[in-house]
Amino acid sequence: MNKTRVLTGITTTGTPHLGNYVGAIKPAIAASQDPNVQSFYFLADLHALIKCQDPKRVEQSRLEIAATWLALGLDTDNAIFYRQSDIPEIPELTWMLSCVCAKGLMNRAHAYKAAVGDNEVAGSPDPDKGITMGLFGYPVLMAADILMFNAHKVPVGRDQIQHIEMARDMAGRFNHLYKGQFFTQPEAVVDEKMEVLNGLDGRKMSKSYNNTIPLFVSEKKLQKLVRKIKTNSLEPGEPKDPDTCTLFQIYSAFATAEETAELRREYENGIGWGVAKDRVFEYLNAHLREPRERYQALMEDPGHIEQVLAKGAERARSEAAPFMDRLREAAGLGRFI
Ligand code: TRP
Repeated sequence: MNKTRVLTGITTTGTPHLGNYVGAIKPAIAASQDPNVQSFYFLADLHALIKCQDPKRVEQSRLEIAATWLALGLDTDNAIFYRQSDIPEIPELTWMLSCVCAKGLMNRAHAYKAAVGDNEVAGSPDPDKGITMGLFGYPVLMAADILMFNAHKVPVGRDQIQHIEMARDMAGRFNHLYKGQFFTQPEAVVDEKMEVLNGLDGRKMSKSYNNTIPLFVSEKKLQKLVRKIKTNSLEPGEPKDPDTCTLFQIYSAFATAEETAELRREYENGIGWGVAKDRVFEYLNAHLREPRERYQALMEDPGHIEQVLAKGAERARSEAAPFMDRLREAAGLGRFI
């Protein structure tokens, strides 16, 4: 039986927060338990260099993200969990794809266009000011990640759909040019129901807004952050609207339907903000306590994480290396004998 291959990468520039957990990590771990699926999850650390040239940050983020996925229960005998930079075939494939990818296609990539747009707004005489080849060619590296393992489905946020389309384009051109069915056409999977959590200030929870609640902060810090979540000036006793409330939204992403309905009633009955915040903190804290302990133990044992990732890299390379041989040969770079 051929399993559906599901693949996704996590750029290693930040510290995982509640929004990442609800929107990406939790559904990915659940999906990897499906016996009809082979999942490939990786730390996109080569991608991290595009956005972040602070080596300490990249290093720390890789460790934190790996520890987070493991602490939350990713089964790495089942999912193939690896570091992108441990797979040298990926940058090699990136080059091969670069040589079939139209430059004009890259000119249209959102991330690049946004950077050019910023330069124009700033009145720069050079529209490409400060833009690296890494940023420009970002979709090619991402295509190599996906095509290397012939992924069928790629769960991503809406902003990444264009990149999957570009990967399809490159796959098609390579297959056509070198006359073979080398690559499968990947499909983006965007979960319409996917929850986008709001952050402390009520905007989407995102590192770039500096409004996140990291998943595994200490109990005290968690309480402090929950107390900082923006609410309004309604007094205790006045009915409150749960549907426009970030605090309520965060609670409901973790709580059961009944628990959520219960808090909803309390909002209608005029629960005070202080009490509501304590309630949400207690709930989150109880939910996160165990994985937090596992996370802390993992962070103190990088040797173990290294071992897990080495196993993932070995499994990934056992596919990538022979596949790369085939691709090299197709392009005229095979051995003479
Ligand atoms: N670019 C993706 C993001 O920023 C991360 C990523 C890198 C990725 N390579 C990938 C996602 C391959 C899916 C498949 O979210």
